[in-house]
Parts: sequence; C-alpha cells; structure tokens
Amino acid sequence: MADTNQIKHVASPLARQTLLDSDLTRPVAGNRPIKLLPWLQVIKIGGRIMDRGHEAILPLVDELRALLPEHRLLILTGAGIRARHLYSVGLDLGLPVGSLAPLAASEAGQNGHILASLLAPEGVSYVEHPTIASQLAIHLTAARAVVGSAFPPYHHHEFPTSRIPLHRADTGAFLLADALGAAGLTIVEDVDGVHTTDPNGVDGKKAELLKETSFAELAKLKGTLPFDPALLEVMANARHIAHVQIVNGLVPGRIAAALRGQHVGSIIHTGARPA
Ligand SMILES: Nc1ncnc2c1ncn2[C@@H]1O[C@H](COP(=O)(O)OP(=O)(O)OP(=O)(O)O)[C@@H](O)[C@H]1O
Ligand SMILES: [Mg+2]
Repeated sequence: MADTNQIKHVASPLARQTLLDSDLTRPVAGNRPIKLLPWLQVIKIGGRIMDRGHEAILPLVDELRALLPEHRLLILTGAGIRARHLYSVGLDLGLPVGSLAPLAASEAGQNGHILASLLAPEGVSYVEHPTIASQLAIHLTAARAVVGSAFPPYHHHEFPTSRIPLHRADTGAFLLADALGAAGLTIVEDVDGVHTTDPNGVDGKKAELLKETSFAELAKLKGTLPFDPALLEVMANARHIAHVQIVNGLVPGRIAAALRGQHVGSIIHTGARPA
C-alpha cells in the first residue's frame, strides 16, 4: 500500500466554505486589493470630443503629447455619435442589447485608433482589451502611453436591464482605473463638468457647475448626467479611486492641470475608503 503520509494537503481557508455567506468570506476577502499600477494616470476622452474633428482633436493631441514626459497614461476613448446612430439602427431592427454592446464598443475602439495614430510618433499605439488586461505594464515600460477602448468588454454578456448597453465608456474607464489601482482618473467632456442640469438643454441657462460633489449626491439629482448612470453604481463600490475629475477637453490646459492635482472641473468623490 502506498504511504499517504507524504501527501501535501492544500490549506485553503475558502475550500470548505460557501461563497454566499459574507461572514465566512470576509476574513479572506475583506482586505483592500493591492495597487497594480499605482503610477498610472487614466484619461477617458469623450466620444463627442472626437466627433468634433481636427479643431478639437489636434489641440487635445498636443496637450496629451506634452503630458508624456511627466506622466504614464492609459488613454481610453468613448464612442460618440456613431454609437448613437448604431443604437438607432439596431434598436429599429430589434437587435438585443448583447448584440449592440460589442458594436458600440468597436466604435469606441475606432476613436482610439484615430488618437493612437496621431500619437504614434511618440511611440503610442492602440491596444486591445486582452493586452490591457495582461500586458499593460510591459507596454507602458516601452512607451509613455497607450490607447484603448473605454467600453468594458461585457459584449454579449451585457446585462439585459435596458435596450441600450448599461455599461458604457465611463463605467469601463472607471472599472479599469480602480482595478489597476491607478493614481487617478480624469474624464474629458465637451462641457466644464457636471452641472445641476444639462447646460446645452432647454434649461441650460439655469445650469450651475457642481465643482465638488459625490456619487451619492449625484444619484439624487433628477435629470441627465454627462456620463452613463451605471458609473455612479461602480463608484459606490470603488476600492482605490477616491475621486474622479471631469474636465472640459475643449479648453487647452485643463487636462494637464487636472493631472497635476489642480481643481479645474467637477470633482466627484466615490465610495472608496481612504487608505
Ligand atoms: N447634468 C449635466 N451636466 C453637464 N452636461 C450634461 C448634463 N446632462 C447632460 N449633459 C450633456 O452631456 C453632453 C456630453 O454627452 P456624453 O457624455 O454622452 O458625451 P461623451 O462623454 O463625449 O460621449 P461618450 O460617452 O460616447 O464618450 C454634454 O455636452 C452636455 O450637453
Ligand atoms: Mg460623457
């Protein structure tokens, strides 16, 4: 008979537990995750900035280029007007949300390819989601920045909560920045920040800029926001990113100032506990 005394038993605190009982999982799962890339700055560029063509894009590229000696960047792009058109056509045809999500994500990727092409002389390239997931560190060792699609790859697993994908570019950028333990996330819009109401809407004259607010305050606000509402839900459960700044990418210098820690837009506090 074989001597079983040499068999190594794997000590694993969760092996015999149900993962459904939080009292049992908390001692193991309750700790703060480590910061994978604590030196990384994540910048989400709104698709509407890209939709404006060279007048908006070229000064933005100049500003991003000037940031490279100072920061290492993950630049993520939103989908803009082409995704709106895609949703219109797809919804008219009755396509399910799981079909629309990857199509919209590919529009966000197209904006990323445009931006990466313009920054290529600086060694910047576009990388796909799997590369961001597993090889971002080596890419950012070789180059000061990379560009990717801000859309999260829920694709055909997108929640069927609504007909338009729930998790869009802002949610995707936040999830990545938080998972990587990045130094910061700056969301670049075509307005000065979050206002009490849409500054370009019918009540635009009454809109007031919210210079400092929180995910909980914004959840109470009636009306629209300049980002996907699911962002507020992921902010509530943030592990690292304690605040996000929303800045106007049409005003030169705002992104650079935000990355230097200056308050030049709307700061939104998340639910992340201070370290
Ligand atoms: N409460 C609000 N505060 C500020 N802007 C608002 C608000 N509600 C609506 N908006 C509008 O949101 C617009 C930005 O739209 P949106 O966030 O969809 O663009 P984007 O971020 O560039 O696109 P994408 O998500 O595809 O990257 C602003 O130009 C503004 O008119
Ligand atoms: Mg937006």
